[in-house]
Amino acid sequence: MSLVLATDAQKAQRDAVTHAAWGSPLSVPQYQEREARLRAHPWSREGMNTWLWLADDGRVLASCETFHTDSFLRGADGQLTQGDSYGIASVFTEEHLRGRGHATRLMDAVAAELEQVAPRPHSVVLFSDVGAPLYRRSGYVEVPAWDWHLDAADAPGGRPVDGGLQETDVAGALARMRQPDVPFFLWPSAAQVDWHLERERIYADLLARPRPRSCGAVVGDSTALWTMNARYGELVVLMLDARDASAAEALLTEARRVAHQAGLKRVVWWEEPTTASLLGGVPGAVRVQRDGSLPMLRPLRPGLPPAPEVPFPRALWL
Ligand SMILES: CC(C)(COP(=O)(O)OP(=O)(O)OC[C@H]1O[C@@H](n2cnc3c(N)ncnc32)[C@H](O)[C@@H]1OP(=O)(O)O)[C@@H](O)C(=O)NCCC(=O)NCCS
Repeated sequence: MSLVLATDAQKAQRDAVTHAAWGSPLSVPQYQEREARLRAHPWSREGMNTWLWLADDGRVLASCETFHTDSFLRGADGQLTQGDSYGIASVFTEEHLRGRGHATRLMDAVAAELEQVAPRPHSVVLFSDVGAPLYRRSGYVEVPAWDWHLDAADAPGGRPVDGGLQETDVAGALARMRQPDVPFFLWPSAAQVDWHLERERIYADLLARPRPRSCGAVVGDSTALWTMNARYGELVVLMLDARDASAAEALLTEARRVAHQAGLKRVVWWEEPTTASLLGGVPGAVRVQRDGSLPMLRPLRPGLPPAPEVPFPRALWL
């Protein structure tokens, strides 16, 4: 058996079979269009690969994708060193081939390959929809995953935000945000955040539905970025840097309004240890155990802190 990079033709063939797992509510041609557009996005072109685990006769046994993300490791002197981390997505084995260890061997082979090719190896992350045990076998450790929900509403009054953000504001918004004061973290680029907005654009086009009027907001020094998850009727907060409780409430209240206006059901954000107390205090916010998207981390080098000490903003999801 061997690990290879997929050709464009092989990627298109894989789309036809992975539709069963991730295609709904899109038709097969719509899902193929989604995949083609996502692969053509600048963030994918910068650092996305599709990996195939092949049988000796060349049949595809399992596949997955990797995306490059910048990560930062704090040294003993407190200084941050930038390195290479990778997100793994779309791990897939066709139904008739499951239960024979193909996905496990693919995961082991991809991590071994990344250890070799990464110029400054840091970590591999994934967001499991099938629990932790499968990926634990390949050295991944999970992080407890909680979501917060807030109903979409036209909520009048309250502290207004200073303004909404548009797609062209993403780089500036990221630059305003404080990076986490922790030993190790991954930090999305503007292109990575725009990849989420490309998903929003694709679903808005294919499902013929309106897009939210903004992709974030600012109030004082505080900033939020969000995107529509049309499939689940949610406005999902990708990144949030709130300096105090009043700013957190103003940003999330604006998100509720934007969600309401776009015909979405709720605002959702991922709990992060550093902001949980601030954001959890927002009136009406409900804490929910996350169903799927369980963050898991596998070091590519010694010296990384334990996975539960690593923050996972939703912008890192793939
Ligand atoms: C998950 C998947 C990739 C596993 O592929 P595979 O080649 O059968 O994997 P392996 O043989 O290496 O390991 C199988 C293990 O995964 C577990 N697993 C598979 N699907 C699971 C699920 N939905 N929930 C929990 N565990 C699951 C099996 O129980 C099995 O555990 P066991 O060996 O202890 O019995 C495959 O089932 C698949 O493609 N599913 C649909 C797409 C998907 O959900 N991908 C994962 C996204 S995070």
